[in-house]
Amino acid sequence: MSPVRTTRILHADPAGIEAAADVLRRGGLVAFPTETVYGLGADATNGRAVASLYEAKGRPRFNPLIVHVATIDAARRLGVFEAQAEQLAAAFWPGPLTLVLPKREGCPVSDLALAGLDSVALRVPAHLVARALIERAGRAIVAPSANRSGHVSATSADHVAQDLSGCIDAILDGGPSEIGLESTIVACRAGTARILRPGGISRQAIAAILGKLDAAPASLGESKPRAPGLLASHYAPRARVRIDAAEVKPGEAWLGFGAARPAGAAPVAAQNLSPAGDLAEAAANLFTMLRKLDRTGAPTIAVAPIPADGLGEAIRDRLSRAAADR
Ligand code: TXA
Ligand code: MG
Repeated sequence: MSPVRTTRILHADPAGIEAAADVLRRGGLVAFPTETVYGLGADATNGRAVASLYEAKGRPRFNPLIVHVATIDAARRLGVFEAQAEQLAAAFWPGPLTLVLPKREGCPVSDLALAGLDSVALRVPAHLVARALIERAGRAIVAPSANRSGHVSATSADHVAQDLSGCIDAILDGGPSEIGLESTIVACRAGTARILRPGGISRQAIAAILGKLDAAPASLGESKPRAPGLLASHYAPRARVRIDAAEVKPGEAWLGFGAARPAGAAPVAAQNLSPAGDLAEAAANLFTMLRKLDRTGAPTIAVAPIPADGLGEAIRDRLSRAAADR
């Protein structure tokens, strides 16, 4: 979208949070920090605000938004919590978990935000600035990741500004995102629980609470918007991404993991997600390092193999979408 708004940068202090809440109450767009990634917030009950949010991101209309609330009680007023949803909320809220639940009758969230579905995606973030903002705004806040649609998610106020400056009203700067990967999305309905998107809470941690999980997440390449973060090409930098790379080819940038040096050519630029091979550190660095390497102009970013256990599942998920054909 062409830049038409003046984007204010606000500090995440009480005055900044109050100013940001005021913008939200008036139907404006505010990017704010969460522990996963920065979100682009709008009043969930204001259809016009939601429409302008889709426009600012360049997001396809069919892609529904996560509704952020400050407490589990507020969430219960919007979605129907069965036993499994209650167990997961008790274990992981506030935190990097999104629950997709049947929409409660009278749920005031705009139909546009739900893309006409009969379900609602709910999250209670742990980040104190996010919770204070939602509380001060006094309403549910929809917030997709604060990046241009399809691009790498934003884990700092700087990233948000690179993608959305001039298209939104304010950025609440709360420093870098601690986790660096989006929330895990779990759909709970009619006694089943399925992971729709791997994320900041591992499959193992969720299975440990529920005892069992229904079928695996949708396979790569699915184009139906069951959770459109699952579109094959998503989270994509401008450069091509080559995953599970055994060596560096001439002209490539290198995104490493672990202590081993890559074989092959000398990379034109290099970053290491975690020299110690720590998956949480790698998650926190993922989007920042992809953006850095992308800015060098290298045509391809080769990425070291990442193990698939724990948070590795979500890291591999984001990387394979970044690598998918566009
Ligand atoms: O960590 C996060 O989840 C971040 C922070 C800002 O909270 N938000 C985020 O939002 O990642 P977004 O819009 O980038 O991704 C939300 C995903 C999309 O893939 C969307 O399709 C899916 O959630 N989603 C939302 N509502 C849904 C629903 N009712 N059923 C299935 N999927 C849904
Ligand atoms: Mg996103």
